[in-house]
Amino acid sequence: MSSKKRIGILISGRGSNMASLIEAAHAHDYPAEIVTVISNRPTAGGLAIARDAGIPTVVIDHKDFATRMAFEAKMHQALLDAGVELICSAGFMRMLTGGFVDRWRNRQLNIHPSLLPAYPGLDTHARALRDGVRIHGCTVHFVRLEMDTGPIIAQAGVAVLPGDTPETLAARVLDAEHRLYPHALRLVASGAVRVTNDILETAPPTDTPAALFSPPLRP
Ligand code: GRF
Repeated sequence: MSSKKRIGILISGRGSNMASLIEAAHAHDYPAEIVTVISNRPTAGGLAIARDAGIPTVVIDHKDFATRMAFEAKMHQALLDAGVELICSAGFMRMLTGGFVDRWRNRQLNIHPSLLPAYPGLDTHARALRDGVRIHGCTVHFVRLEMDTGPIIAQAGVAVLPGDTPETLAARVLDAEHRLYPHALRLVASGAVRVTNDILETAPPTDTPAALFSPPLRP
């Protein structure tokens, strides 16, 4: 029997982060397999990508449910039916209630396009540019009730460049997201991290990561 963790991915849109997880999971030594993709939007572009990759997909349209809890109960059941052990939200655009979040506590990851706790919410790239930050980035974290909070699993810093627009910055952050999410999921699925007092504990790195300087140190 496979010892890989069984992953369900939640999407609402284009699914590029989902695609990066599916791609990573092709590696024979990757500790996770993607067993289902669930979208709350029937038109999500990511559904076709998942189907083409041979992953079973489920559409659970939130508009078909009278309450948030009924929608979430259906989603929870679909995850159980697929034998899901860990959830990866990847551009999933529905707020979740405490009932769902608690059931999947420390078993649901999310990716957010900023260096949390800076810039939770929407329009992260435009807000970072308006503030003049020199380093922006992305975060994978465990999900908690309050949006874009929860123990941080991994982050990638991205230098803000002269002339950046929200679009150019978003594109570079998205590139980093596609590398960060498979890395973070590997850490969680392999059991390399644990959460204590809502802070992530990891083994010390074997080499010291270089600092990211922005603007760069060289003249
Ligand atoms: C990503 O920027 C992700 O960080 C945010 O929503 C976007 C989803 O993009 N939560 P995609 O659907 O993965 O392409």
